[in-house]
Amino acid sequence: MNENSYPIINLEKITYSYPGGPPVINELDLKFYHGDRIGLIAPNGNGKTTLFHIIMGLLKPASGKIEIFGKSVREERDFLDIRRRIGLLFQDADDQLFSPTVLEDVAFGPLNLGRSKEEAIEISRKTLNFLGLAGFENKITFKLSGGEKRLVSFATVLAMEPEILLLDEPLTGLDNQTRGKIIDILLNLDISYILISHEIDFLAATTKQIYTMENGMILSDEKAYIHKHDHIHQFGTIPHKHM
Ligand SMILES: Nc1ncnc2c1ncn2[C@@H]1O[C@H](COP(=O)(O)OP(=O)(O)O)[C@@H](O)[C@H]1O
Ligand SMILES: [Mg+2]
Repeated sequence: MNENSYPIINLEKITYSYPGGPPVINELDLKFYHGDRIGLIAPNGNGKTTLFHIIMGLLKPASGKIEIFGKSVREERDFLDIRRRIGLLFQDADDQLFSPTVLEDVAFGPLNLGRSKEEAIEISRKTLNFLGLAGFENKITFKLSGGEKRLVSFATVLAMEPEILLLDEPLTGLDNQTRGKIIDILLNLDISYILISHEIDFLAATTKQIYTMENGMILSDEKAYIHKHDHIHQFGTIPHKHM
């Protein structure tokens, strides 16, 4: 079968509630294909982060079907492979970073994937260079600024050479320069992703479809969300279309 002909992430009627709470995800369907770049925009508390955690197997839905890379995933061991192949950039960088130094944090993933120490260091250095973080190797992770932490988090994800990225509000709290950097990186990466953000211009610049979430479900009515508008372009020269 051609890799484009079936969804690489296929969620059917997924329902999830936190203990004692109402369903946050409610009979949600999502099909994500190779080459997709989906933006997800919805008010706080609508279940966007929960959805990402379900895809990664960090939360287990009460009901519904999850197929990823053409295989049904249910058990914890099914998700081990998924977590190697899908990179999640956590909404909070402090959930992502746990090693004393930047290099150790970035090398952790490749080492975990079975790379030698030398290979892991080489990949980490390359990734840090790619993100403009050369020279950060020996910095103490917890002393970094918010923007630096976000970029190092991104490095830890990219160093695992994932096939898909799930990016949870990557621009939050970043200065304009770092925001521009992240946008450039996304535009230059040859990778499929789902990107959560509250910023329509950012999504318009970096994604091909924009979905929203309401009542625990995904709505894909793009027309309702992309509209003509006048604004000053925060990101300068990044080309993007308005519909
Ligand atoms: N660990 C948790 N325990 C209980 N409720 C939670 C937890 N995490 C999130 N929620 C609740 O689930 C809902 C969806 O949260 P979340 O997925 O983080 O939304 P979003 O990412 O769209 O802001 C919110 O009402 C939130 O309060
Ligand atoms: Mg969230």
